[in-house]
Amino acid sequence: MRLAILGTGLMGSSASARLKELGFHIVLWNRSIEKTEVIARDLGVDIARSIVEAISSVDYALAFLADDSALLSVVSSIPRADGLIFVNFSTVTPKASIMASEFLSTRGVCYVEAPILGGPRIVREGKAIILVSGPSHCVGSIEGILKALASDIIFISEDIGKASALKLAYNNMLITSIASLAESIVLAEAYGLSLDIVKNVFSKTVFKDLVERYFDRLISEEIPTGFKLSLAAKDMEYASRAAFDKGIPLPLASAVEQLYMLASKAGLGDKDYTRIYLFMKRLGLKT
Ligand SMILES: NC(=O)c1ccc[n+]([C@@H]2O[C@H](COP(=O)([O-])OP(=O)(O)OC[C@H]3O[C@@H](n4cnc5c(N)ncnc54)[C@H](OP(=O)(O)O)[C@@H]3O)[C@@H](O)[C@H]2O)c1
Repeated sequence: MRLAILGTGLMGSSASARLKELGFHIVLWNRSIEKTEVIARDLGVDIARSIVEAISSVDYALAFLADDSALLSVVSSIPRADGLIFVNFSTVTPKASIMASEFLSTRGVCYVEAPILGGPRIVREGKAIILVSGPSHCVGSIEGILKALASDIIFISEDIGKASALKLAYNNMLITSIASLAESIVLAEAYGLSLDIVKNVFSKTVFKDLVERYFDRLISEEIPTGFKLSLAAKDMEYASRAAFDKGIPLPLASAVEQLYMLASKAGLGDKDYTRIYLFMKRLGLKT
């Protein structure tokens, strides 16, 4: 099975390593080619100099792109490619996903959206959760690819946009919960409570799983970026935008989006999104 990987950032490079390990033949394309050269060398795979070259000899194109504009820019470069299946793993708005699907259908390409729940490490281990929307016959033919990356594949609908909407709804809850946990830690610390006692108490409650997974990551001084803080801001903005398109307000999402935007503008955009705790702590220290 020959695949083109479009976008070799944190997610695309992890997926590439996993797919290569499982015997898929892959070719890599990335907007900034220099970033891909190291990855391609490590994996022993080919690089394509253009999107047209990347898809010229494959049956499947897998996109791991930052946002709506990245997706639409890549999709608009796809020439007529009858029979190609384009799988979009990026987190985008339902509207952008539908636009990509409609454009690609004029190129003879079948579009499937498959947003991922889980970060690069989980994808590398093949243990992600993937939500899928798209025509059943195309979804059926990518089962092997999805199974390589995910332990849980959930078919949402034939209608493009629904899996993306659910992914945004999930990230809205996750990113807001992380900000809320960070805020609560800052509050407790302001009263001289130790991190140990805060963690101990929180972990005995309904927030047990969240605390076990994120408390230490939030308070650690330095951790490698798994999910960029700027992309968390993007997901919150997309949740608000998707709600706006349906005429419903999401006041909490808008507030949290602004918080992550501020942290991003303060220079934390490329850092892990859990740096939101350090940002809030710094804000507190300034008052
Ligand atoms: N990291 C996570 O934990 C995680 C989990 C689930 C879902 N996601 C989603 O998965 C997607 C990829 O995330 P990531 O963590 O891999 O992000 P990333 O490391 O920032 O990679 C983003 C990729 O998008 C490319 N890109 C950005 N703008 C572009 C444009 N205008 N045209 C073409 N390519 C463009 C980048 O190319 P350059 O190298 O040239 O900048 C890079 O390959 C995002 O939608 C993210 O929200 C991430």
